[in-house]
Amino acid sequence: MSRPIKKTAKFVSIAALGVLALVGCTQQPPTATVEPSTSVTTQEVSQETSSPDAVTLKNLQAAYNGESNAHARYLAFAKKAETEGYQQVARLFQAAAQAEAIHAANHAAVIRKLGAKPEATIETPEVKSTRENLEEAINGESYERDTMYPEFIEQAKQKGNQEAVQTFTYAVQAETEHAKYYTQAKDNLEDWKDAKMVFYVCPECGFTTNNLNFENCPECGTAQNLFGEVV
Ligand SMILES: [Fe+2]
Ligand SMILES: [Fe+2]
Repeated sequence: MSRPIKKTAKFVSIAALGVLALVGCTQQPPTATVEPSTSVTTQEVSQETSSPDAVTLKNLQAAYNGESNAHARYLAFAKKAETEGYQQVARLFQAAAQAEAIHAANHAAVIRKLGAKPEATIETPEVKSTRENLEEAINGESYERDTMYPEFIEQAKQKGNQEAVQTFTYAVQAETEHAKYYTQAKDNLEDWKDAKMVFYVCPECGFTTNNLNFENCPECGTAQNLFGEVV
């Protein structure tokens, strides 16, 4: 790719490292509780019915937890794909992991604006075969695309929290692309062994693509040359 992409890939890589530090993830499957805090738990939030932001905050925390775990899970799945010789699938998992870290960081920023601390409990990923891992990834992305985020977006709209609407919308758009690519990979697993697809991730919204046929991110408008290349 062009020089700007490689430059920005470094930028995204650094940004991703920052996000990783934020969510407490490493290249190893993490097991620690992220940002343990005595401030606001989801149970406490759900009981704060007097707060107009309680529902939105509860949903943001759930989404932050989900994205943080998806990030850790996909890094573990990428390692497994590499050991099984599926390098292309490994790059897809790595690209999606970057996107989930961006979603987690976006959710965290809104949580902090509501005066709470982002909280996630990172569970040790259950790693199976790459085919099974792809199936699990498809199920997770499909749930977020079809059920979780549409509900969260609707509730955030009802509460008038536009920033929550935006961060949820950025996520659901990227999850839709992830589900599409994971399905392609599962359906063409052996062909993907020889594939040379390059994935790019929007540093702002996590939109993930293998085709930079646009000047600006179709979801958030970020300039195409700021997309990070996953190698
Ligand atoms: Fe995703
Ligand atoms: Fe974007």
